[in-house]
Amino acid sequence: MGTNKMWGGRFGEGPAQIMAEINASVDFDKRLAAQDLAGSRTHARMLADQGIITQADAASILKGLDQIEGEIADSSFIFKRELEDIHLNIESRLADIIGPAAGRLHTARSRNDQVATDFRLWVREACTRADAGLLALQRALLKQAAAHTDTIMPGFTHMQPAQPVSFAHHCLAYVEMFARDRGRFTDAAKRMNESPLGAAALAGTPFKIDRDKTAKALGFDHPARNSLDAVASRDFALEYLSAASIASVHLSRLAEEIVIWMTPAFGFITLSDAFTTGSSIMPQKRNPDAAELVRAKTGRVLGSFVTLTTVMKGLALAYAKDLQEDKEALFSAADALDLSLAAMAGMAADLKANPAKMRAAAEAGYPTATDLADWLVSKLNKPFREAHHIAGSIVKRAEEKGVTLEKLPLADMQKVEPGITSEIVTVLSLEASLNSRTSFGGTAPLRVREQISFWQERLK
Ligand code: ARG
Repeated sequence: MGTNKMWGGRFGEGPAQIMAEINASVDFDKRLAAQDLAGSRTHARMLADQGIITQADAASILKGLDQIEGEIADSSFIFKRELEDIHLNIESRLADIIGPAAGRLHTARSRNDQVATDFRLWVREACTRADAGLLALQRALLKQAAAHTDTIMPGFTHMQPAQPVSFAHHCLAYVEMFARDRGRFTDAAKRMNESPLGAAALAGTPFKIDRDKTAKALGFDHPARNSLDAVASRDFALEYLSAASIASVHLSRLAEEIVIWMTPAFGFITLSDAFTTGSSIMPQKRNPDAAELVRAKTGRVLGSFVTLTTVMKGLALAYAKDLQEDKEALFSAADALDLSLAAMAGMAADLKANPAKMRAAAEAGYPTATDLADWLVSKLNKPFREAHHIAGSIVKRAEEKGVTLEKLPLADMQKVEPGITSEIVTVLSLEASLNSRTSFGGTAPLRVREQISFWQERLK
């Protein structure tokens, strides 16, 4: 293997096969091609405007880059691993196309600020995509919520039936989580929006470049203020990955609930053929594979965060090749997140709630026992602890008789607490319990409808 034509000036021999193998990144960083072309175009225009290269050279560079863009689009571009990465592949091809003027593009630039710029542009777009994916998911959940403000299901703590809530309320809990996830991506996108271009290798450049101009042309708010920081930092990628990790954890919780709700034992929801698969051996099966995969892909996203944090830990300034390991981790996480969001939005729109099953499950768990205790507090002036104890004994009686609290004869209750009157039945139904939870943020349909209006306004 000959010396590298892009940087091989002082090298007598080419790299060992294994060196080329470990060094090459083009297999994955070809995904930065569009960003690399944008950065190079901007840089070339600026160099010409500043009189650092001629307008004629800039024009031929731009023309060459256009051709390369076409070649990449129609897959005729040949990526060469011996040219290491996307940056050198494009520059080398540019030289094939336009000749020596191609060599002027890299004036006042290094691959260090180049890759930092490209990657920021890519991650910034990934933030926008995540936000859009989360928004679509929120909208689907909101639609379910609007249809189910009066659909009662058991609310759980410890996965045990606790108190009745509406399915709408449950859906809106996720709308809230995904709203905060969106906030994290928006914040991250805002903070990362400074341009590394012009930081050059690490120290800046003696050429009279215009960093404000290139920053603006690439949609950055301003140039990064410190050239070392500009080429050495990847916390923008870490922020994406941490936001993605949290969002994925939220997705995995919803995925898990879908899986549980889908089991015939629960039967709270059904998913159509569009989001389920059959079994090759058991004809009765309808498996929630998409939900399971969303649940599992969280591992990839969290793993990527750990991967990149570990790469960054203890890394002395400024650039080191360690930083090349930032991309695969982030691409893998972004792919997993994008796909999971699309699948989850699809499932959220597709799922059909089964109110009868939800109601039956709610009835089975004595979920109005707290309402009974609250009644003893407000009507009989019992201290809550005592009321809790009385209600517990009444639940025990109902359990022994195999009836719901609502169906337990008054006489049985009065054996436990003589002060109880027939008025008690007004608080023991699921509806009464649901309707009574009128505190702000509570599950009463009245309150939930207010929240639905709030989100309908916001997610328009
Ligand atoms: N492929 C490299 C990366 O991803 C580009 C930067 C190379 N810089 C260098 N000084 N060798 O980080």
